[in-house]
Amino acid sequence: MEERGLDAEGFDRLLADRWSCRGFRTDEVPAEVLTDVAQAAQRTASWCNTQPWHTHLVTGTARAELAERLYASASSGAFSADLEMPSDYRGVYQERRRDAGYRLYAALGIAREDREARALQMLENYRFFGAPHVAIVTSDRNQGLYAHIDVGAYVANLMHAAFARGVASCPQAAIAMQSDVVREFLDLPEDRVVVCGVALGYADEDHPANRARMPRAEVGDALTFVTETP
Ligand SMILES: Cc1cc2nc3c(=O)[nH]c(=O)nc-3n(C[C@H](O)[C@H](O)[C@H](O)COP(=O)(O)O)c2cc1C
Repeated sequence: MEERGLDAEGFDRLLADRWSCRGFRTDEVPAEVLTDVAQAAQRTASWCNTQPWHTHLVTGTARAELAERLYASASSGAFSADLEMPSDYRGVYQERRRDAGYRLYAALGIAREDREARALQMLENYRFFGAPHVAIVTSDRNQGLYAHIDVGAYVANLMHAAFARGVASCPQAAIAMQSDVVREFLDLPEDRVVVCGVALGYADEDHPANRARMPRAEVGDALTFVTETP
């Protein structure tokens, strides 16, 4: 590959340092910065360059109204999702999921057995953890699974492009679990599916939730070199 002077160190640091922010300041990110973030994420690779993602950047009074509707719906126990949600966590996946929950609740001082406090914390998703902006990211229904994979890569790029500009984020499948509310609010056509929300804003560094950091497995658990026919 031609030497392009790419900054591997900076890129790796970006990946290592980004975290899911669950406590935001109220001050808004300038629209130009949000546009730059979306512009950068436009470079995401996709199946046959189909670029199946779309972002509705919900902000201002629209954000307040959407939060209110989502919070009311989720509090009532309603659930609707355009995509199949994981339900069966086994083995190491269940362990990692539990560990992530423990780390977050420990940071917040919520006891494991305090179901009510955990449920209330879960509902904070629908206030976007206080973020002034939420990106609602949708995919194309008809192109199926690989389109959704492309959209996942786009979401990752969106978060890293934001972080590179000092903008914190939290990907939120919780938003996709209220897809009827989102669909109606945005008047989404039938061929779009809600993949997730991404809360965006400046991190409240003093918020206890932001003390939680999630570890990763060793690279050897996720990487196998194949040098001989297995
Ligand atoms: C597709 C996706 C959906 C997620 N949904 C939620 C969510 O609804 N609420 C939440 O608090 N975190 C959510 N997360 C954040 C994960 O819990 C987080 O990425 C994981 O624990 C690793 O932590 P880190 O992002 O801080 O490194 C989601 C992450 C992804 C990639």
